[in-house]
Formats: sequence, C-alpha cells, structure tokens
Amino acid sequence: MVEALSSIMRNSRPSNLLLYGKTGTGKSSITQYVMSKLAEKAPDSILSCYLNCQTFDSPYSILINVAKSVSGNDNIPPSGWPLDRVYTELSSKIEKSKKYLVIILDEIDKLVEKNGGDSLYVILKAADESKGAKTSIIGITNDTSFTEKLDSRVKSRLNQESIVFPPYNASELKDILEPRVKGILAENAIEEPALNLCAAIGAQEHGDARKAIDLMRIAIELAIRDDKEIVTTEHVYRSRDRLETDVLKETIRTLPTHTKIVIMGCIAASEMNKTNMITGEIYANYKDICHDMKIPPVSSRRVSDLLSDLEDAGLITTTIRSLGRYGRTRYIQLNEKEKEMKKYLMEDEEMGNFEASTKSIQTRFGNYEANNTNLDKILTAADEGSEAEIS
Ligand SMILES: Nc1ncnc2c1ncn2[C@@H]1O[C@H](COP(=O)(O)OP(=O)(O)OP(=O)(O)O)[C@@H](O)[C@H]1O
Ligand SMILES: [Mg+2]
Repeated sequence: MVEALSSIMRNSRPSNLLLYGKTGTGKSSITQYVMSKLAEKAPDSILSCYLNCQTFDSPYSILINVAKSVSGNDNIPPSGWPLDRVYTELSSKIEKSKKYLVIILDEIDKLVEKNGGDSLYVILKAADESKGAKTSIIGITNDTSFTEKLDSRVKSRLNQESIVFPPYNASELKDILEPRVKGILAENAIEEPALNLCAAIGAQEHGDARKAIDLMRIAIELAIRDDKEIVTTEHVYRSRDRLETDVLKETIRTLPTHTKIVIMGCIAASEMNKTNMITGEIYANYKDICHDMKIPPVSSRRVSDLLSDLEDAGLITTTIRSLGRYGRTRYIQLNEKEKEMKKYLMEDEEMGNFEASTKSIQTRFGNYEANNTNLDKILTAADEGSEAEIS
C-alpha cells in the first residue's frame, strides 16, 4: 500500500486500489494507519478522506462529504445541490489545495449493493475528471466476489491495483494482543497459555484479529468479575462460549418470522427423538405452529428455501441421501446448540405463543408415538413379507 501511494512523493497520482480480505484481517485499521503516516511525512502533498459506505451510502453523500473534508468548512449544504455542482466544487477545492486527494471507501460493497455499480462509476468519474487528475480511490471490501458484480468500465477503473490481506496466523495475532494488555494490566496478569489460546482461536477463525481481541477482552472481564488476579485459559474458554452464545442469540433474533417458525418446527420434531428429519415432517409442524399462532403459512417449496437459509446460517445441517429409484431425500439435523436455540426462541417477543404450540404438537406426536408400536408391527411384517414386496 505504501509503495502504491508513495508515487505522491514523486508528484504523480497513485493508482486506484482495491483491498480485499476476510473480516478482522486489518484492512480498515492498516489503511488508516498508513494514511496517517503518509500525511505526517508529506503534509503539504496529501489529503485523505475516509468514509464507510455503510454510513455514506450514496454517491451524493460521499461526494458532499469528500468536498467538505477537503475544504474543511461547512458552506456546502448536506442536500439540495445538484450532483454536478458538487463535482465542480470538489474539483476546484482540490485544485486550490494543490494536494493529492485519496478517498478511502470502506465496505465499498455496501454502496454497490444499495445503489448498483453505477454509483461507483459516478464517483470514479468525478475522481478521474478532477482538474489535474489528482484524486485516487481506495476501495475496501471483505466480499471476494465483489468485482464480479461490477461491469467492466467500473472494474478496470477501480481495480488498477489490488492487495489481498491474508489471514493472521497465531503468532501474528499474539503480537497484536500483547501490546494491548501492556500498561493496562499488571505484568503476567494474563498467563501465557491464555494469551496463546486467544491467538490460536482467532487464527482458526480465518485469522480474525477482532475475534482474538474480543476473546481476550471478555476473558479479562470474567477474571475481574471472579476477583481473580490472573487470567487463565479457563476464562478464555468461557469467553469463547459467551461470544458464541451472543452470536447465536443475535442470529435467532434477527431471523424472519417464518424462518423462526420453521426452526421451531425442527425443534418440535427433534424433541420427539427425531434426529433425521425430512422436509415433510418439518412442514407439517410448521403449519401446525402457524395455525396456533394464527399466521397464514407459506408453501412447502418456500419452507424448503427457508431451510436452505437456516443451513447457511449454520443452525441446521442437511444431508441428501439417494433412495435409488425413489429419488433423493434431504435429511435435516439441528446443530448441537438446540437447547440454546429453543431458549432464545422462547424469549423472542414474536414467538409469544410458541410454548402453547409445542405442547399441542407434542400431544399430537404423543399419540403418534403410542400408535407407533402398531405401525412398527406392520412395517416389520411388511419387511419380512415373502421377498419383501410389500411397501
Ligand atoms: N496489524 C495490526 N496491529 C494491531 N491491531 C490490529 C492489526 N490488524 C488488525 N488489528 C485490530 O483488529 C481489529 C480488526 O481490524 P480491522 O477493523 O482493521 O479489520 P477489517 O479487515 O477492516 O475487518 P472488516 O472486514 O470486518 O471490516 C481492530 O480492532 C484492529 O485494531
Ligand atoms: Mg473494516
């Protein structure tokens, strides 16, 4: 990154850059660090403007904010100017400043997701056309398929150079963690294995520094709450459980209503000792719960899609088994956190009627279980029927 940007020191415009990498690999923080160092070295030649596209999510708000940060004053209204006036203003401001401007668009994929590739084109064009072409753009994303969604004129403009941020390994994560505790905690307040464990877990999670830091922070909090002088691996393990619980709770909370009901249907089936469920069974439970909650059910095809969403969210796993000439069946298993999932669903406001519905399902299933012995007899008889030709 420094190499690419150092062309400013040689009085030439740096290429636009695209930075990729998984979450927590340091893209945002390192970019800001590099920019601040460059600004220290060459205060008369560099201006930079860092914007997160989660917040600044339209070309208008981006260009307005860039113009404001360049001019350092507020004579530009937050809205009301046509885009080309913002353009002209920005362009003349850059010219006046006689500096190179680097616009950093973090989470650039969010801008495109919301406004399409054209929005990016507008910004790239504004940068290209700034007088004397002294503006470059650094786009940052953790979506590796991001450029595939762009059309070629945007892609080639933005991706003049790209840098991939690789995952941190455990020893790098340890280097990131260590200085953070120095000066805050007494020496050796975190035992070495505890520090190593935070780093190792972060490395396992695609080298995520944020995860490693969060793990350590919570481990320290837990030790303080326990009135312990030393943070041990036990605190780190508890910290990991806490983090995972938070993620699960949040995942469940943010599921759409029908998806919540589908997962309730899975839990109801699983509580009847069914570990390998099929879509039909889950759909039957789903419809029962919808009925109890007085919500119109969606089609079974749609529930099938919702099951795929649940698999993507890691709440269930599915295995497809071939049944020879009878086609293929999808078997569904809940993930091992079933009890927690149920607890969070029960706590969910939307699911106020859930308890009542599970009871009704269990009663229905209860009867089914009672009759099951008869069914079993019939099935065994069929199995043993001469040459097993009875289905
Ligand atoms: N090299 C590093 N030295 C010190 N701290 C680091 C380093 N890299 C990352 N961190 C810390 O790790 C955390 C995550 O980093 P950062 O926010 O830069 O990740 P990111 O790649 O932008 O992630 P995301 O894709 O989720 O936005 C931050 O708290 C940051 O300070
Ligand atoms: Mg980031």
